[in-house]
Amino acid sequence: MSDKEELKAVLITGANSGIGRKTLELLIDKGYFVYAGARKDKDIEELNKLPNTLAIKLDVTNDEQVKQAIETITKEGRGLYGLVNNAGIVVFGPIITTSMEMMKDLFEVNVYGPHRMTLACFPLLRKSKGRIVNISSISGILTGKILGLYSMSKHALEAYSDTLIQNAADFDMNVSVIEPGNFKSDIGSNLIEKMRKEEESYRINMTAVQRKQQFKEVEEGFSTDHGFPEPFKVAEAIFDALFSEKPKLRYLVCGNEEEVKWVIKRMFVELLQLNHNHEYSFDKKVLIDILDECISEMK
Ligand SMILES: NC(=O)c1ccc[n+]([C@@H]2O[C@H](COP(=O)([O-])OP(=O)(O)OC[C@H]3O[C@@H](n4cnc5c(N)ncnc54)[C@H](OP(=O)(O)O)[C@@H]3O)[C@@H](O)[C@H]2O)c1
Repeated sequence: MSDKEELKAVLITGANSGIGRKTLELLIDKGYFVYAGARKDKDIEELNKLPNTLAIKLDVTNDEQVKQAIETITKEGRGLYGLVNNAGIVVFGPIITTSMEMMKDLFEVNVYGPHRMTLACFPLLRKSKGRIVNISSISGILTGKILGLYSMSKHALEAYSDTLIQNAADFDMNVSVIEPGNFKSDIGSNLIEKMRKEEESYRINMTAVQRKQQFKEVEEGFSTDHGFPEPFKVAEAIFDALFSEKPKLRYLVCGNEEEVKWVIKRMFVELLQLNHNHEYSFDKKVLIDILDECISEMK
């Protein structure tokens, strides 16, 4: 085995900021090699200064760039052990003001992006019996009035991960999904930037005054960091999903107990809604028996 093969390599999409960047730093710190996906030349230049890092121009919506990225990784000759589908964007506003164009753009990055990357990396990952880590969100469980579209995309990624986990197991590969709460990153400033450039046609059922008001809300809400923690804990969870002997299927990673409660409560509410008032509704005792059954299956 060559030196290159011994240093396990991981491809991270959107590695230049936020969660992707913290994960990159942790991996190189622990002695792994990272293919760092980034879109902008200045980010690529900066990432290439880091040890054990090769930055790759990679927009996950761009088939040609994805193809070239795989060619580069293959030529490098160290194989590929992990793929972290991290690249993502957030969009804002009620569903009723969402044009088809906007929805397609969001899904192109947050949903089709991970699939495009998974398909492209599959031959290399299959060879290494490697791992895929999908970065979802607590929004993959929760749904809100204003971030509903983002939440739709992360719900899709949750279902995608659940099925991929089963497909990948046939090839001795592992898939995990990470659900971060709120952490400090560039996602808010990227949203503001995106909205600033936005064509009017991007949103429908809105007057110019409402558009302006919405933009103001986003600027006020997303320009401050709200004291959210740096995403070190998220990077650690991704590391565990990539390298621990017994990776978890889901990693809920929150900055405080309140966020955890939102998620767990939402799951209970949905369960109770599904069980409510129909011919096969279960009583509380049966629900607890099912819970016990699930607990013993998890062990
Ligand atoms: N921060 C949080 O609180 C939080 C919570 C839950 C889930 N998440 C998820 O965590 C992931 C990382 O987000 P983040 O919070 O770290 O935000 P971020 O700092 O904005 O990072 C997002 C990364 O994705 C990249 N990206 C965006 N569109 C892309 C595309 N089409 N192709 C390739 N790369 C693209 C960005 O590149 P550019 O710099 O070139 O735009 C950036 O590197 C996302 O999937 C997000 O949904 C974040």
